Amino acid sequence: MNNARPRRNRKSNAIRSMVRESSLTAADLIAPLFIIEGSGLNVPVESMPGQSRFSPDLIVKEASELFDLGVPCVSLFPALEDGLKDSVASESTNPDGLLQRTVKMLKEALPELMVMTDVALDPYSSDGHDGIVDHATGEILNDQSLDVLANMAVAQARAGSDIVGPSDMMDGRVAFIRKALDEEGFQNVSIMSYTAKYASAFYGPFRDALDSAPKKGDKKTYQMDPSNSREALLEMQLDEKEGADILMVKPGLPYLDILSEMRNHTHLPLAVYNVSGEYAMVKAAAERGWIDGEKVMLEMLTSFKRAGADMVLSYFSKEAAQLLRQV
Ligand code: PBG
Repeated sequence: MNNARPRRNRKSNAIRSMVRESSLTAADLIAPLFIIEGSGLNVPVESMPGQSRFSPDLIVKEASELFDLGVPCVSLFPALEDGLKDSVASESTNPDGLLQRTVKMLKEALPELMVMTDVALDPYSSDGHDGIVDHATGEILNDQSLDVLANMAVAQARAGSDIVGPSDMMDGRVAFIRKALDEEGFQNVSIMSYTAKYASAFYGPFRDALDSAPKKGDKKTYQMDPSNSREALLEMQLDEKEGADILMVKPGLPYLDILSEMRNHTHLPLAVYNVSGEYAMVKAAAERGWIDGEKVMLEMLTSFKRAGADMVLSYFSKEAAQLLRQV
């Protein structure tokens, strides 16, 4: 006779809270923020309802509201004018450039906030690629890109960045960046590596926000093939050896299996990036009244914790933190 009755553990809110295996708190969240030049500017991103490009002064305001809600970290992405972009991402190392200036302002205003900065050429590149493009062949040049990435990471560290996040997927970049940071005395700057970053169509709205879509071709020679899973473990082993502090999976929702697989094979903390397209889908369906946007958001964020993430980069961070505070 089978007398198991799993429903006993679901009979009341109290007992459900006792047997709950994973939970979501504001401290799990990292808020990506888009920066534009100027002051007092809040320019909505059309394909991401509720998200804006902020000028540096308003970034400080937004980050301080997030921090007060318990969100410990922001990840910054600069949206540059075309005139500042070139084929070798020169603007990325400008100590007075938009990103570096914003990092300084943030760390002065909110020293306890963790400021993370993205390391990849695309926001600064006239080609819209994460590495340097050989214009004769269209190839994305790995080793030539490493110098640019390392210089970018050092410039960000010098401005006060606490965590650099290489999102470029060039081979060997974690070790290269670690060495450059250490040589410049930035032993305490962490590396959150975009370990398993897939060549995904879910990045569309983000590329709208930064106007950073590739001018030619796609990112399939460096970002991973969505069909692959073992390859994520290979990337993971390399990032561990190269000295990454935190490993990331991206996108989130369609790659929960990758997250869970990585959880079973590493002792390092794991992050997941709930990307722009995932955000846009929820917002669009909720606007039509086809789903309950708030409930779907919380279910989605909880699924990342259940699958093994220690932290979640999400455009929902503020909304979720506000809701979590009420309950
Ligand atoms: C750039 C970068 C991308 C995202 C984060 N860093 C876009 C891309 O690789 O084309 C996407 C984030 C999102 O869609 O929310 N290296």
